[in-house]
Parts: sequence; structure tokens; C-alpha cells
Amino acid sequence: MIVLKLGGSVITDKERPETLDGEALERAADAIEAALADGVDDLVVVHGGGSFGHHNASEHGITTTEGTHEAGAALDVHGAMKTLNQFVLSRLLERDVDAVPVHPFSTAHRDDDGDLVLPTGQVDTLLEGGFVPVLHGDMISHAGAGATVVSGDELVAELARSLDAKRIGLCSTVPGVLDADDAVVDRITAYEDVADVLGASDATDVTGGMAAKVRALLELEAEASIFGLDDLESFLEGESPGTTIDR
Ligand code: IPE
Repeated sequence: MIVLKLGGSVITDKERPETLDGEALERAADAIEAALADGVDDLVVVHGGGSFGHHNASEHGITTTEGTHEAGAALDVHGAMKTLNQFVLSRLLERDVDAVPVHPFSTAHRDDDGDLVLPTGQVDTLLEGGFVPVLHGDMISHAGAGATVVSGDELVAELARSLDAKRIGLCSTVPGVLDADDAVVDRITAYEDVADVLGASDATDVTGGMAAKVRALLELEAEASIFGLDDLESFLEGESPGTTIDR
């Protein structure tokens, strides 16, 4: 089973609110179509927000820890993410990929410690039925805090754990983790390998950033790759482009 995240900045135009990067999304959909035609099965897709969702969240002061108790605010963010999700689904459906949505707001929550609880029975059953479940960064209910943001990266980590993913791919705007000379780091087996370039502490980096991604991926059993859009198809077909993270 492969869990693939399409970074929000890859498939949207970050400069303009709620604007798709249509060409990039078409390329991503083409790569997924080609891989499925070549026999790849059991694929779960997660996408981020990019120019969708983030600005609504910041307008309302909502983060992964600061919640809202107002339905209108929660639905602003959720609605923007559903709009983007609909674009992703339709590009996949146009290519006969059997993509169906799974909205985290309706299924996940954070417990008293703020930890993500994500039931995966429906994702598993959809996979068995030959579907490609497509999840997305979203709002979720949060014990004691109303509703907070859940990032696509958090969903990827939880899905990989619960569904025992073989491989994890993060399709990003960069071709991998870059070293001080902007060359792609081939392999990371411990955070110390890249602490110099990514920073020793990620205390201020709770919702994203490469440091947080690398730390989260190092905690997972499955091998993970961070790569750019040019390498999406080769990743899906079994190669390890970009940076491989494997503890
Ligand atoms: C966006 O998800 C979540 C929001 C609702 C705001 P991500 O945080 O995973 O999005 P990108 O990939 O970094 O844009």
C-alpha cells in the first residue's frame, strides 16, 4: 500500500487565494493514471491546502492547536478544502481513476492530548473495493478546543501507521531535502544527518516545514520519499527518487 501526499503548494498557486495550479494538478493526475495502468494498486492520496484553506484558517486564528467553537469559521476552512478536493477528484475521474473523497472532519478527532485519532476502516474497505481514497488537510474536532486544523502530513503519518503502508511519498515543490549547497540529500537515516541544514530544533515548526516532515517520517516503519512533481511517476512505479527517509 502506498500513501501519497500531494503538497498544497504543488497543486495550487500559492500567490493567489483559492487558485489552482491547473497544469501541475493535471501532471500529478497523469502520473497517477499511468502508475495505476502499470499495475500499481492500493494507493491512498492525501492533499494539502496550498492557497486553499490556509488563509481562511489564519483569518479565523485557527491552527493545529488553536481551535474555534464557531461552525461558520470551521466550515469556511472545511469548505475551501472540499472545493480543492473536488478539483483533485475531478481531474482523477476524468482519467478513469476511481477516486473517492474521505473528509477528515467527518471521521477524525484530536483527543485530550491533542493527538490525532483517525479511524481507517472506511479507507481500508475502499481500497479492497478498488477505489483510490482521497483525503485532505481539514478541520477536525479537538477535545477541549472546539475544532482545529489537521495537516495533510499528520494524516499521512497516521494512515501509514494504521494501514501498515509499504511506501510513503511526499510530492513537494522541491526535488527532495536540500543540503547547504542546494543538492538533494540522497538518504536520511537519523535526524542528525540533516540537523545542520534543517536546524537542530523545530519548536516553531509545528504545522509544516521540512524539519517537521523529516522528524515525523523518521518515526514511521515504512520507507518514505520526498521528491518533486517530475519524479512522481517514477516514485509510484517503485523507484526511490529525491530523498529517501528510512531509519
Ligand atoms: C492544509 O493542509 C490544512 C488546512 C486546512 C489549512 P496542509 O497543511 O497539509 O497543506 P500544505 O500541503 O502544507 O499546503
